[in-house]
Amino acid sequence: MDATSKSLLSRPELTEDAGSMAEDFNKSHRTIVICIGKKEKVNSHSAKSIGAIVGRKLSAIKAKNVEIHFPESNFEMESSFAESIGLLSWNYTHLRGTGSKQKSLMPLALYSPEKKFSDGMKNGLMIAASVNFSRDISMTPPNIANPLWIAKQATQLARQTGISCKVYQGRALQTEELAGIEAVGKASENPPCLIRLEYKPRGAKTKPVVLVGKTVTYDTGGLSLKVNNGMVGMKLDKDGGCAVLGAMHAIATVIKPKFPVVAFLAAAENSVSGNAFRPDDVIKFRNGVTVEVTNTDAEGRLVLADALCMACDKENPRLIVDLATLTGGVVTALGKVFAGYFCENQNLCKSLESAAEESGEKIWRLPLNDEYRAMLKSPIADIINSNPNRQAHPIQGAAFLSYFVDEEIPWAHIDIAGTHRTTSDKGAFIEGPNGFGVRLLAKFVENIK
Ligand code: BES
Ligand code: ZN
Ligand code: ZN
Repeated sequence: MDATSKSLLSRPELTEDAGSMAEDFNKSHRTIVICIGKKEKVNSHSAKSIGAIVGRKLSAIKAKNVEIHFPESNFEMESSFAESIGLLSWNYTHLRGTGSKQKSLMPLALYSPEKKFSDGMKNGLMIAASVNFSRDISMTPPNIANPLWIAKQATQLARQTGISCKVYQGRALQTEELAGIEAVGKASENPPCLIRLEYKPRGAKTKPVVLVGKTVTYDTGGLSLKVNNGMVGMKLDKDGGCAVLGAMHAIATVIKPKFPVVAFLAAAENSVSGNAFRPDDVIKFRNGVTVEVTNTDAEGRLVLADALCMACDKENPRLIVDLATLTGGVVTALGKVFAGYFCENQNLCKSLESAAEESGEKIWRLPLNDEYRAMLKSPIADIINSNPNRQAHPIQGAAFLSYFVDEEIPWAHIDIAGTHRTTSDKGAFIEGPNGFGVRLLAKFVENIK
């Protein structure tokens, strides 16, 4: 610590509260000392909070070059600190036109004389870049971000990071019997598709981890139309898929696991037209299960069912995790703090919960058993897509999906309808999509042996 910093330690504004700071101005530079909290309470979570406070301060003072010194830190803390600064650097200005003043963002260079610190910081900034990549796609409005536009983003990601990408569209959807994606996407001028990404390290022979994302580029509810302004914001109904894309970005650029990871994005626009699928339609899925549509607004499970069938059929998966903005009910149950998740495999539960704890993207397990599965019995087909009794919607969603996953494959479904967007300008986030799931999945994959 230099003499200026030492002298700042006795300033009254520097208290024992994490985030309090003291500043010294000099002609050429300014020195800021920040309290990071009581030693025993300092961990990667507090490093994230401090990163957000520092990031906001640096932005307020329009800093351009910053040298950072952390006392006794480790890779994880440095990474967490920089992750917050990276997340704070996100804003979405692509669509500002001549009607608003352009605020030019200034680049910020972070520097540390300690190599260990620089490495951690680089890691955190790279993870934040993956989250921000996801947020950019998520934020893109539905007149641009239609299913094939999403496929283009996936193709570009694949090209840039050396992974592979295949898009099932048009006739291929019929050949592969992807009836859910086909039905949900039918009413829209923008055709639906199933996107498959694969990260495969050279020589890897193990079974892949499979990630699946609901990618509904706009959810009007279909003929069971959303009412009372419930449609506004439904461009974010693609956020499961956006999180999976962001996670693949992180997997291919930072995590680089020794085993393969496959991702499926089930992409469709749930629109209205004379050609729309209807309540009362019966759809036959790839695995032979027949579904009576009772509500076209319960469309996410229909597109996910196709992706889950494909994963089970074609990938010989080691495990499957799906992410989806599936139900308003999960928002009622858990609010914006925890995502609800469903999983009957103890090992997978444990791994997901550790990843959630480490990444700070919280998940809470909800129950799923045959009594809930029985709620979906149909008088005409095997199952209905939603029981009109208005009970346990998030569990009904998970119960529905379970019909499309082979029993012996460990599987988890994460309902992110409450957590995928931030509603206030606070911490490392501004209002808008927050890429929930990118860091959770990245950490989950990183922890797999
Ligand atoms: N996309 C919605 C769920 C949603 C709600 C996402 C709020 C984000 C915020 C989903 O497709 C939907 O409409 N679900 C219905 C299901 C119901 C008809 C069984 C819901 O939750 O009301
Ligand atoms: Zn819906
Ligand atoms: Zn939806």
